[in-house]
Amino acid sequence: MPDILQVSDLHFGGVFLPDRAAGVHRVAERRRPDVVVIAGDFTQRARSRQFNAARAFIDRFEAPIVVTPGNHDLPVYRLIERTVAPYRKYRDSIEASLDQVHSFDGLTIVALNSTRPLRVTTGSLSSSQLDFAADAFGRAPAGDLRIVVTHHHVAYPPAFRAPRAMIGGERVVSRLEQLGVRVLLAGHLHSTLIGDSIRLMPRLVAGVARRDGLIISQSGTATSTRGRGPERGKNSFNYISIGPEQTVVTHYGWNQSNQAFESVADHAFPSGAGAAGDEPADARGGEEG
Ligand SMILES: [Fe+2]
Ligand SMILES: [Fe+2]
Repeated sequence: MPDILQVSDLHFGGVFLPDRAAGVHRVAERRRPDVVVIAGDFTQRARSRQFNAARAFIDRFEAPIVVTPGNHDLPVYRLIERTVAPYRKYRDSIEASLDQVHSFDGLTIVALNSTRPLRVTTGSLSSSQLDFAADAFGRAPAGDLRIVVTHHHVAYPPAFRAPRAMIGGERVVSRLEQLGVRVLLAGHLHSTLIGDSIRLMPRLVAGVARRDGLIISQSGTATSTRGRGPERGKNSFNYISIGPEQTVVTHYGWNQSNQAFESVADHAFPSGAGAAGDEPADARGGEEG
């Protein structure tokens, strides 16, 4: 089963840290992931030269890449461009399609664009985008692990309360749980959060029974000075190893002394949808780490 390297919030521009980028590539060269997911905010200000630098970063990976845009990939301060062609530079340099389906061995990944050009920082997913995911998973081989990638986060670390960035995130997670999605990958918060949705988001949509949670894997900023909350001044990313029985999400953090990303914690979950929901949330163990 595949390994996924998940990074986000590169923020090429004035806040970008080249030594962290080299550190991400060194981990990729050592662990050789099957897929690299980049969950948005490639640039700081959506400038062409920033996108070009991000493209060069992408092209150094050997593995196939799955991407989704972040709010910083839109020209926030260039109102005409934001109104007329908000994704033009992103499409030219990074990826032409905003919502995509990727099939790998045993894995179907749907990347959904959560940015909204008329909003500055918050995001959302429309019903038609969730229908797009449902259709993609409906066509996928039976038994494929189902993964969704988006930029805006849906949950917060306990010590870091802030306004929720994904408008309607509860509705989104509820729908994804019903679709049998096993892993949701996101960024934007600039602070790592890894856990089961039933534990992290105990109340979703009223009246909808929940049996199966999904693994929420939110990565911090891999290569910028913009770490927030518990990761203020820190850099991090996640690495997901999917085995037949167990999925392990490893949180990597930058060690300034060693000038390298190092494993901080392994968070282990059952791989199969359903396994996490068979017991009451407070009786399950293993996902904290
Ligand atoms: Fe960001
Ligand atoms: Fe963002």
